[in-house]
Amino acid sequence: MAVKFELAAKAPSQVGVIGVPVTEDGSLPREVTLTRKQLETVGFTGKVGQTYMVPAAKGAILVLVGIGAANKVTLSSLRKSAAAFGRAASGYSSAATSLAQVGRLDRKLAAQAVVEGIALVAHRYTALKTVDKTAPKLETVTLIGAAGAGIAAGARRGEVIAKATNMARDFANMPPAHLTARIFADKAVEIAGASGLKVEVFNKDQLIAMGCGGLVGVNRGSAEPPRMVKLTYRPKGASKTATKPHLILVGKGVMYDSGGISLKPSDASHAMMKGDMSGAAAVLATMSTLKDLGCPNQVTAYLMCTDNLPSGSAMAMGDVLTIRNGKTVEIHNTDAEGRLILADGLSLATEQKPDGIVDIATLTGAMARALGDGMAGVIGNNQKIVDQLLAASSRTDEKLWQLPLEREYRPALDSYIADMKNVGGEAGAITAALFLDEFVGDTPWAHLDIAGPMWTNSDSHWLQKGATAYGTRLLIDLALTFKRPGR
Ligand code: BES
Ligand code: MN
Ligand code: ZN
Repeated sequence: MAVKFELAAKAPSQVGVIGVPVTEDGSLPREVTLTRKQLETVGFTGKVGQTYMVPAAKGAILVLVGIGAANKVTLSSLRKSAAAFGRAASGYSSAATSLAQVGRLDRKLAAQAVVEGIALVAHRYTALKTVDKTAPKLETVTLIGAAGAGIAAGARRGEVIAKATNMARDFANMPPAHLTARIFADKAVEIAGASGLKVEVFNKDQLIAMGCGGLVGVNRGSAEPPRMVKLTYRPKGASKTATKPHLILVGKGVMYDSGGISLKPSDASHAMMKGDMSGAAAVLATMSTLKDLGCPNQVTAYLMCTDNLPSGSAMAMGDVLTIRNGKTVEIHNTDAEGRLILADGLSLATEQKPDGIVDIATLTGAMARALGDGMAGVIGNNQKIVDQLLAASSRTDEKLWQLPLEREYRPALDSYIADMKNVGGEAGAITAALFLDEFVGDTPWAHLDIAGPMWTNSDSHWLQKGATAYGTRLLIDLALTFKRPGR
């Protein structure tokens, strides 16, 4: 159940817990009857992430919520403080907090960050638990603040964004048999209908007719057919639509990545390869919010969906696939499948002559090893679109680090049989991007490799163990603020 957020001038009388923001410095709020010394003895200093529960003889329990130094509160730190409060309050059905009022932040953005923090830690994927002892009980959270200060509007935005993020987490947490390409496409149709998007689903025959040899090739070993989903969002005021900046998002939707004939070794971490569709899930979730959030830009999306499995009909090493744009690829590792399906999506996107293309994919273990699970890598052919992503990243606190599109490494992909091989060279994350670069021409394009942050093994800040839906909030922010990068 999603947490409901309300706005009130003060905490409701029957509320279970009240979150009181406490800075690391300065005086304590007057409702706190303990001294700093006493709080220090229990380890509470007011740092971001700390909480301390003060039992009350009557009335609500106080939760002291650390917000760090008073003059250093940011939207990112506030989101983390709110998440810590959400965890502390998870055993109660109702809570209230004045966190949206702290600091000199914009009230609307502060409320959005607080709601995101609380709603993201209240989420669990519980569909497959017959008994669930861990699900948070929190149902209602009252944001204490003045009406008209933008808190209600910010809270509403936060709710829409957190709901989409949690939906993307659910998709990536779902077992492969519960979310095949066909089922995912059906869900996309449902979601598109509910969120004012045009939707087109392409089946295997249509993909063959369109020349999408990458997606069809990767699907060859599978009993389940592939799907490509195209979603279209157009802002209100149709006559002016053509003049609005046009962004295209392409998501890797590998429903399960076994590696194919280049079978992955048996390893506990491969259970998370059900999350190899996290890029497509983030794109679908992003698209679902655009109408609600009044996105001013045109946004089109391609979800490239199949699993990657070995069988008698699977693509083999040495096979050559022809991608939608006519380029031929010699397969040297069937586990480098993501780039093959993205190649078709990027070709189709490029044909539409958009102002910018962003793809998002759990693409390489190399990127995960380089940057760890705390951030994604970004590589692009246009610094202005990369900069827009970096700016969105700093606002959403979904961390991003740029790597170079080093064209000197391109010969590593040369093939003596076809236009290129699908793998090659040392810098695996960069050569993967160089492969994708072959399908976008000079369209401003950036590639997000989310192999690292797509999954987390522990709860931290606003993340919950399991699929993270990394990129959802980042792409929503980008879609809302997108400007023509220019070539
Ligand atoms: N889906 C994987 C990448 C991945 C690894 C995602 C770890 C999340 C966590 C991708 O399809 C893959 O298998 N990549 C190969 C490429 C290699 C064969 C060039 C890899 O990184 O090992
Ligand atoms: Mn793979
Ligand atoms: Zn993969």
